[in-house]
Amino acid sequence: MSQVGEEENEHLIFGGVDVVDLAERYGTPLYITDENKIRANFRSYKKAFETVDNDIYFAVKANGNLAILRILAQEGAGADVFSGGELRLVKLAGIPMDKVLFNGNSKSEEELRAAVESQVKISVDSREELQTLSAVAVKMGEEAEIAIRVNPDVSPKVNPKIATGLRTSQFGIPYDEILQTYEEAARLPNIALTGIHCHIGSQILDISVFREATEKMMQLAEELHDRGIELEFVDLGGGLGISYQKEKEIAPTPKDLAEMILPTFEAKMRSLGVNLKLVLEPGRSIVGPASILLSKVNSVKHAYKNFVAIDAGFNLFLRPVMYDAYHEVMVANKLNEPASVLSTMVGPVCESGDIIAKDRMLPPVKRGDLVTILDTGAYGFSMSSQYNGRPRCAEVLVRDGAVVDLIRSKESIEDVIRNQVIPQRLR
Ligand code: LLP
Repeated sequence: MSQVGEEENEHLIFGGVDVVDLAERYGTPLYITDENKIRANFRSYKKAFETVDNDIYFAVKANGNLAILRILAQEGAGADVFSGGELRLVKLAGIPMDKVLFNGNSKSEEELRAAVESQVKISVDSREELQTLSAVAVKMGEEAEIAIRVNPDVSPKVNPKIATGLRTSQFGIPYDEILQTYEEAARLPNIALTGIHCHIGSQILDISVFREATEKMMQLAEELHDRGIELEFVDLGGGLGISYQKEKEIAPTPKDLAEMILPTFEAKMRSLGVNLKLVLEPGRSIVGPASILLSKVNSVKHAYKNFVAIDAGFNLFLRPVMYDAYHEVMVANKLNEPASVLSTMVGPVCESGDIIAKDRMLPPVKRGDLVTILDTGAYGFSMSSQYNGRPRCAEVLVRDGAVVDLIRSKESIEDVIRNQVIPQRLR
């Protein structure tokens, strides 16, 4: 991110492109993604883990835009998918099916069939699902390749809504039932056991918890090895945090993560005399910092607070409301003006909770000014809705300041109406 000189009126430049020009051309709200950032973030994982056999499965829930998935496919990414819909997306994007893990604690039988048919690996989340999957595979005359989702009972210090490896969480099979589950799986027809899988949480900044999870998972690999069950891969999930509050938070890098977990991972492989593939499932740390959400000021009101009402709210960006998440905001067309007014930025949704940024010092703004919300590439558009009858916005991809591509058209009100039906008897 940078700014252009004074003669150009101090606009925000993102991916080499003046965002004020983008607003004129595409309208607002607008998600803008920098292709180079995504490629660089992905490559930093590949580089950090190059000493071991590895695959990086991008967590599609973070961002399901096909163009972005296509970029990651070109970089050699696999995918963690959590639904039949995400499986369809990664197929369309050209991610190879042998690098896909179908996750989920509530898969329908239809989704299990789609996963088996596509020959992707399946992370089995319960012993009941194991039985169902075996029956599905037998019926189809196919083999299902599986990993068991382990609940490792570790506690990352993150918002409880995004801690997934706690003993109390609904994800995975309790740690002390894993060996038994593997033995059950080994006896079931049409099941090929190849991996173990965990995911402990998201937006993790204190990465020591990854070492704890790695130790527990490698301990399991050893106990399985002792029982004659040889694994092919260990998937330690995603979760690496990013720096949303630039002044307060220091983001750990993939290299930091590698230094934290590889010694344990490699030592155990050596002692067992086996070679395991390490799989990671990052979402946020690949795409989070690569996008901004550009929005326009609709109104400024000096009331109990100085409210700046913009045209994007929790319909398009849920994180501040759902997790009290902090995202930096900037006035994109007044970059060098001093921040002199305490402002609260709110969206257009009819709820008092629709607050995007609370009590921030901003330059004085007026109707028509442009604001950007930073680091919106992960769990941004993918968590959007049509609440309040608002069509979702467009997305563009920028590269090197020279290329701008539309990667999602904005919806129209027709898209909101399309699948609704007034029954004949009500007409
Ligand atoms: N693998 C599994 C099984 C997951 O459940 C998740 C995220 C990931 C990988 C990717 O985690 P990441 O690297 O992105 O932290 N909407 C929330 C985050 C929910 C995360 C759900 N699972 C947010 O906006 O903070």
